[in-house]
Amino acid sequence: MAHLLVTGGAGYIGSHTLRALRQAGHTAVVYDDLSSGHAFLAGDAPLVEGSVQDANAVSRALERHGPFDGVLHFAALLSVPDSVVDPLRYYRNNVTGSATLLEAALAHGVRAFVLSSTAAVYGTPEAQPIPESTPCRPVNPYGASKWMVERMLADLERSHELRWAALRYFNACGADPAAGLGECHDPETHLIPVALEAVAGLRPALPLFGTDYPTPDGTCIRDYVHVSDLADAHVRALEHLLGGASLGARNLGTGAGHSNREVLAAVERVTGKRVPVEEKPRRPGDPPELVADASRMTGETGWSPRHSALENVVSTAWQWLRHWKRL
Ligand code: UFG
Repeated sequence: MAHLLVTGGAGYIGSHTLRALRQAGHTAVVYDDLSSGHAFLAGDAPLVEGSVQDANAVSRALERHGPFDGVLHFAALLSVPDSVVDPLRYYRNNVTGSATLLEAALAHGVRAFVLSSTAAVYGTPEAQPIPESTPCRPVNPYGASKWMVERMLADLERSHELRWAALRYFNACGADPAAGLGECHDPETHLIPVALEAVAGLRPALPLFGTDYPTPDGTCIRDYVHVSDLADAHVRALEHLLGGASLGARNLGTGAGHSNREVLAAVERVTGKRVPVEEKPRRPGDPPELVADASRMTGETGWSPRHSALENVVSTAWQWLRHWKRL
């Protein structure tokens, strides 16, 4: 069993993964600056409050709570539109912060590293589903920042024998309400929780961005993958690295696309209520369709999504929202 450092373990995907790692028998320490995370999401795991940009604090955590067999790195800024407005903040936090963390981790003997990456590294590829061999041409600073860290990891594999995995999530969604875990973004910008907030009367309407895309119903198509499936993928990726081999960059998605209107229909089925919708122009930077080919991850680690049926995604997100907002 391994002893792990989980940066961003008090965030959405980090906290679900933390739980899965501990359930698999590993021990973990969370490192999080709580700028967007919440201490309660780390549960009873040890929590060190600090930024990945603070080299001294990172080294202290590695020293005091180590030695660590591996690092899972979730601590990052994640808003595509914010990254367009303030690119340097993204490069400083996501790129420089990762370099700082990697330098300290290597100095403390860590040789297994799992990066939280994104489908945004691909930009706007035309062929669907998207395999990892698709060229990475990110179209925003967020995607570029993750792509740069992936490049660092590939270089460090050669220079320092670092074993790594960069897991490129498509659309993370859902929750594990039974475990007291879910999405607590403020403000929330993602389709499913925003639609649920509109249903609950927490906002006047869901703005539906773009109804004139070249898709069957005119709205964008995305590949929704449940956060519990993402958590399982991280455990498998880590164990693959601990087994002695690198994994590299791998897609995490279901291979099935759902249009925004299909998602809204699922929200109405699950909640039994109408989603108040306000049709809006396209949101800048939204590709019409993003669907994963995740067959390499399945072939190499046995991973396959088990919780990602759209109905289950929406119903766990709905249970979580009602719990979190006390509805
Ligand atoms: N959408 C709406 N109204 C909203 C929110 C979203 O119509 O209020 C639409 C978007 O325009 C898009 C779809 O719903 O067509 C999905 O949007 P999300 O914001 O939920 O998710 P994205 O696909 O834009 O972003 C996700 C991750 C990013 C990642 C990106 C990769 O959240 O971190 O996929 O392309 F970078």
